[in-house]
Amino acid sequence: MKITVVGAGAVGATCADNIARKKLSEELILLDIKEGFAEGKAMDIMQTSALLGFDTKLKGITNDYAATADSSVVVVTSGLPRKPGMTREELIGTNAGIVKSVTENILKYSPNTIIIVVSNPMDTMNYLTFKTSGLPKQKILGMGGVLDSSRFKYYLSKELECSPSDLNAVVIGGHGDTTMIPLIKHATWNSVPVTNFLTEEQQQKIVADTMVGGATLTKLIGTSAWYAPGAGTAAMVEAIIRDEKKLLSCGVYLEGEYGEDDISLVVPVVLGKNGWEKIVNFELSEQERSAFSKSADAVRAMNQVLKDTRVI
Ligand code: 2OP
Repeated sequence: MKITVVGAGAVGATCADNIARKKLSEELILLDIKEGFAEGKAMDIMQTSALLGFDTKLKGITNDYAATADSSVVVVTSGLPRKPGMTREELIGTNAGIVKSVTENILKYSPNTIIIVVSNPMDTMNYLTFKTSGLPKQKILGMGGVLDSSRFKYYLSKELECSPSDLNAVVIGGHGDTTMIPLIKHATWNSVPVTNFLTEEQQQKIVADTMVGGATLTKLIGTSAWYAPGAGTAAMVEAIIRDEKKLLSCGVYLEGEYGEDDISLVVPVVLGKNGWEKIVNFELSEQERSAFSKSADAVRAMNQVLKDTRVI
């Protein structure tokens, strides 16, 4: 079994580190365009194997996609991260070309792989990957929802003073500061609605903090986050490799589900060995439905840029 992570920047390397620690495959490839960079990161991670006790063979590769041949899952983290004050959407011009060419290279050597897209703007990059890969829609997944749901649980747990793993809470919509929709009215603390314990004002603050979770970190660190994005991506890889049938929020291509068509957005799906196996329908309120349709409009406008610039 082989897994590939493309892009050895902070998110890619953290993802590879998590995959190695979880022992998800015998072979793990970390590929980067910058000479020696992936090799160095891979060597650093491998030098933790005696300490952490994993046998995964992680190999760093400079731009030779032949080494990725027959990967079961490929994670794409390539492209620029955002800088403070930037939106994810501003990255579209640079990252679209990169993601398109990475996808073409991956498919030359792993024509039936499952691709997880991390590059931003994630919803549009996921749409681009679906449109250009020719793979079945079940094999193309965007990462943002898993990350945003984890950030949502973080803010909820702080306010409730509870364990984040006791929470059930999902974010749907887009992976953008204004397009993501943390479904607070559906969130539970071990089956009890969190709204039982939080004032309307507290709820609004948690939702607002979640939506700008990435931007808050970018401002503090000076670049985009990596620990939670890397762990979120590895959790998706794990659900696929171990055929866990986990219900996770992921970016997927919609054909009528949630009232949207020809777009990739974040919805709850069941993840297993074939990619996403089922889209799970949430009973949305009128307000949530309208927020979802507004997010779809914003993401559709970004996707139009791909068409206007003839990337697709
Ligand atoms: C984030 O929200 C990288 O988009 C990612 O941190």
